[in-house]
Amino acid sequence: MNDRSHRTADAPGDTRAAVDQLAEATLAALRAPSVLNTQPWRWRLFGDTAELLVDRDRQLPALDPDGRLLLLSCGIALNHALTALRAGGYAGVVERLPDDRRPDLVARLHRGSRCAPDQRNYNAIYRRHTDRRPFADVLPPMADLDALRAAAVRHGVHLRVLTATELPSFADIATVADVVEHADRSLAADLKRWTTRTPEDQDGLPARTTTPPTERPVPARTFNRAQPPRLATGPGTDRGTAYTVLLTDQDEPRAWLAAGEALSDVWLTLTARGLAASPISEVVEVASARRALRNLLGEDAYPAIGLRIGVPVDPADAPPSPARRSGTDVLGLPGQS
Ligand SMILES: Cc1cc2nc3c(=O)[nH]c(=O)nc-3n(C[C@H](O)[C@H](O)[C@H](O)COP(=O)(O)O)c2cc1C
Repeated sequence: MNDRSHRTADAPGDTRAAVDQLAEATLAALRAPSVLNTQPWRWRLFGDTAELLVDRDRQLPALDPDGRLLLLSCGIALNHALTALRAGGYAGVVERLPDDRRPDLVARLHRGSRCAPDQRNYNAIYRRHTDRRPFADVLPPMADLDALRAAAVRHGVHLRVLTATELPSFADIATVADVVEHADRSLAADLKRWTTRTPEDQDGLPARTTTPPTERPVPARTFNRAQPPRLATGPGTDRGTAYTVLLTDQDEPRAWLAAGEALSDVWLTLTARGLAASPISEVVEVASARRALRNLLGEDAYPAIGLRIGVPVDPADAPPSPARRSGTDVLGLPGQS
């Protein structure tokens, strides 16, 4: 692409500042949530451009053969980086999937023009967690749900709250998907790989972040049958929880990327508003479950991921965070591949 209108860094000192700000944004993106904490992305910096690339070694071959959740996770990292740039007073300019000959090039991110700094969602990057414990009995306020719908729409994605009538069928779809994932050897192998990582790997999903089964409207997912979950569920019941699904108009890579950007925006917005969430992705990982969910919703749209959203029982009691890779692992500087 020859359009250089996004360029704001032409003097050498300014180029250096642009690199610093982009590097900082990519470091904030290390906090991004990803499927099974695979963190399936890499960044490369060239002048005032940060390239976001898929890391294929971190794709889930059986659970995610088409790369839906891979691109969705990359979309989350992209929106986290943009959020960090905006907090620093730069608008950010993104070219999404800019080169058909390089499908692993997810995006080019440029610093863009100056804008009013926006700190709200930036602070949420460091406060956000996946909270798998049951939430309080109270419903999330309607004004918050409206704000979350608006956050999704900014990315061309719809956030659909399931009705009480739909919820039992949604629970059935999640339950069957969970059983299928452990009955199928290759699906179970993906789960095993990412739930048995060592501390040195700095990735994957440890048992200390997962909760044992309790009575709730939608059962908690089983990640590893051989490892008992270690996070105490607490007194919540999930009776006030909003079960939502992010929907896209298409079922192709650009839509999966947009769904990730929307999920990042929704999750940071809800965190900033004092709510908590955890994704439900088994319902889209198993093809038959994905079809059943689409039928249940009866929409001319495609389910990208489920998300349970609720009021935390004790806002001061954050759940533990799994490890993240280091910046040097994820960020290639000029001259490095
Ligand atoms: C695409 C995607 C799918 C996910 N699927 C699930 C899921 O089905 N169940 C769940 O409990 N957490 C799910 N998660 C949450 C991740 O496991 C979590 O983000 C990761 O372990 C990092 O932890 P953190 O979010 O607390 O930083 C998903 C996250 C993403 C981005």
